[in-house]
Amino acid sequence: MIQTLQIKPQGPILSYPDELIFQIKSFENVPIDIFQHSKEGSTYIAKIIANAIREKQKNGEQIILGLATGSSPVMVYKELIRIHKEEHLSYENVITFNLDEYYPIEPDQIQSYHHFMHKYFFDHVNIPKENIHIPRGDINLEEVNDYCREYENKIERLGGLDIQILGIGRTGHIGFNEPGSGSNSKTRLIRLDNITRRDASREFNGLEHVPYKAITMGVKTILNAKMVLLMAWGQHKASILKEAVENQPSSDIPATFLQEHPNIRFFIDKAAAQQLTRVKLPWKVGSCNWDEDLMCRAAVWLSFKLNKPILKLTDEDYNENGLSELLLEVSNAYQLNIKIFNRLQHTITGWPGGKPNVEDKYRPERADPSSKRVIIFSPHPDDDVISMGGTFMRLVEQGHEVHVAYQTSGNIAVHKHDVLRFIEFLDEFQSNTNGSRKDLNEIKEDLLNSGGIDSDQVKLIKGLIRRGEARSAARFCGLPDKNIHFMDLPFYETGSIIKKESSSADIAITKELIERIQPHQIFAAGDLADPHGTHRVCLNIMLEALRELKQEPWIDDCWLWVYRGAWQEFGIDEIEMAVPLSPEELLKKRKAIFMHQSQKDSPPFPGSDDREFWQRSEERNKNTAALYRKLGFAEYEAIEAFRRWKF
Ligand code: F6R
Repeated sequence: MIQTLQIKPQGPILSYPDELIFQIKSFENVPIDIFQHSKEGSTYIAKIIANAIREKQKNGEQIILGLATGSSPVMVYKELIRIHKEEHLSYENVITFNLDEYYPIEPDQIQSYHHFMHKYFFDHVNIPKENIHIPRGDINLEEVNDYCREYENKIERLGGLDIQILGIGRTGHIGFNEPGSGSNSKTRLIRLDNITRRDASREFNGLEHVPYKAITMGVKTILNAKMVLLMAWGQHKASILKEAVENQPSSDIPATFLQEHPNIRFFIDKAAAQQLTRVKLPWKVGSCNWDEDLMCRAAVWLSFKLNKPILKLTDEDYNENGLSELLLEVSNAYQLNIKIFNRLQHTITGWPGGKPNVEDKYRPERADPSSKRVIIFSPHPDDDVISMGGTFMRLVEQGHEVHVAYQTSGNIAVHKHDVLRFIEFLDEFQSNTNGSRKDLNEIKEDLLNSGGIDSDQVKLIKGLIRRGEARSAARFCGLPDKNIHFMDLPFYETGSIIKKESSSADIAITKELIERIQPHQIFAAGDLADPHGTHRVCLNIMLEALRELKQEPWIDDCWLWVYRGAWQEFGIDEIEMAVPLSPEELLKKRKAIFMHQSQKDSPPFPGSDDREFWQRSEERNKNTAALYRKLGFAEYEAIEAFRRWKF
C-alpha cells in the first residue's frame, strides 16, 4: 500500500447528511466521502494523486496510474493539469494504463477513448508518450486475446497499478465490466450492455453507431491495484451507487466487488448520495434531528411501506418500524398524522399563480398580485410542456402574463432525416420560385457526409426545426408570439454532445430577459438527474443571473419554482406545490407535447427509457396523483409537482 492516503488533503467532506446527529449502524460496505459538489471532490482526488506522484518522485520511483474516461474524471484531469502548470509538478515519472476502449474503433475517431484521453489530459501534461497505454480498438479480432494478455502482463511486470481511478456506469460496471463479470476476470473483449450503449449514444450521434464491444481491464485487474478511488457525481448515479455500496458482492453489479478491496474509497457528491440509507432514511442508521421536513419524509415512507393512509397510522406502526424516536418528539401518532396530513393537503392547489382574493396563509403561492408576470424557463424547447404543460395552460387561463424562454436551441437532438425533409421542402419551394438551389445542395452534402459535428448551417436548420415546434406548442398553450423567447444560450452551440463551459455571455442573456420582464414567478428545470447535464447548466446560469440581480428592488417579490424534467419526479414529501390536472387537461397537455414532432417516436438521445416523452410525462403525473391518493387525499387524474427554491 502506498503511503499517500496518510497525506490526505484537507477537503470540505460532509461526514453526515444534515438530518443525522450520530450514526450507530452502517449499511455501507465501503468507506465513502460525500462532497457538496463534484468540483470539490474532484480537486480532492487530484490532490491524492499529485501527492502520490510527489512521494514517488522523492524516492526516485515511477508511479503506475490506472485511468478512466467518461464524464466522471474530467474535472480530476483538469485539476491535475492545473497542478502541473501552476504548481510545476512534473509527470515524467508517471506511467498510465487506461481501463478500456471501444471495439472496434480507430484511435483517431472522436468518440474513441484515445481521443478523449489526449483531449482531456495527455496533450496538456508531460507524461512521456511511451509511458501511455490505452487498449487499442483497431487490432484484428484474432489478435485480441494475445493483446489483452500482454496488456495485463505489462501492468504486472511494472509492479502493478499504484492507484486506479474509476467511474461507475448505470449498470454497475467498472471499466467495461458489465453485469455477469466475475471477480476473477482479467483484461478481455466484452460485449457492452444495452444500457451502456444507450448512454454512449449521445457521443456517437445515435445508438446505431455505438460499437457493440469493448476491450476492458478485468475486475481482478482493478482489484489488484494498490489503491482504488471510485467517483460518482450526480443524481443519475444515486440508485446504482446505493446498490454498489449496500448490496453484497455479486457479479450482478460488478462494482460491489470493490467492497473486497483493502484500500478502496468512494468519492461522491450530495446528489449521488441521495439514495444511501443514511441519507434517505436516516432514522434507520442513527439518531436524527427531527425537523418538520424529516417528520414528513418518515410519515410518508411509513404510510407507503404499510400501505395505509397517513391518518390511519398508529403509535405501534411508528414504534415497530424504527420510528419510536420520532414519536418522542411529538405527543402521539394522531398529532403527528394530522400535522403531516395538513402540510401535504396545503401543497395541492388548482391556482399555481395564487388564488386571488382569498386568505393565502396555507397556500403555496401568494394571492397578490392577482395577475402575475411569469417566466417559464425551458432548457430544451420541449421541457416546458413535458414537465409543466398543464400548469402552463392554467397560468395562461387564469390571466397571468406568461412568458416562455427556451434556453437552448436543442439543435443536436434533431435527426438527419428531419433536416433533409426541410431542406428538400425549401429546395423544391425555391426551384418553383426561381430561388438558388446551390446553397441547399451544399448543406445537404454536408449533412450526409458529416462525421459527428454539425456544420453551422445544419445546426441552424435543426435549431429552426425545434423553434417551429416550440412556437406551435406555446401557441397551443395560449401564448401570444411576443411572449415566446428563444435564448439560444451559447454554451450549447457546439454541434456535438460535449458542450462548452457556460460563460458570462450565457448569464448576460438570461439576466437581460429577467430584468426586462421583472417576473413575480419563475418556473425552471431543477432536474439534476438529466443525463445530458444541460438542465443542470441552465439552472446554474439562471441562479447566477438572479444572484447578480439581487440588489434590484423587485427581486424580493420573485419566487422561483422548480420542476423536474422527463427523467425523474420529486418524492411526495419534497413537493411544495401540487397542481392537479383533469382528464381533459391531461389530453391537452399530450397534444402540446405532440407538437414537438422531431422528438417523437425515438429522439436521437432516448436515455434508458423506451417510452416517448408524452408517455413518460403522463405516467409520471398519474403516478403522483395515485401516490397522493394512497396517502389518503382526494383522487385526481394527474398532478404536476413543483418545489420552491429559496435563493
Ligand atoms: C470509462 C469507464 C466506465 C465509466 C462509466 C461512467 O473508462 O470505464 O466504467 O467510468 O461508464 O461513465 P461516466 O463517468 O461518463 O458517467
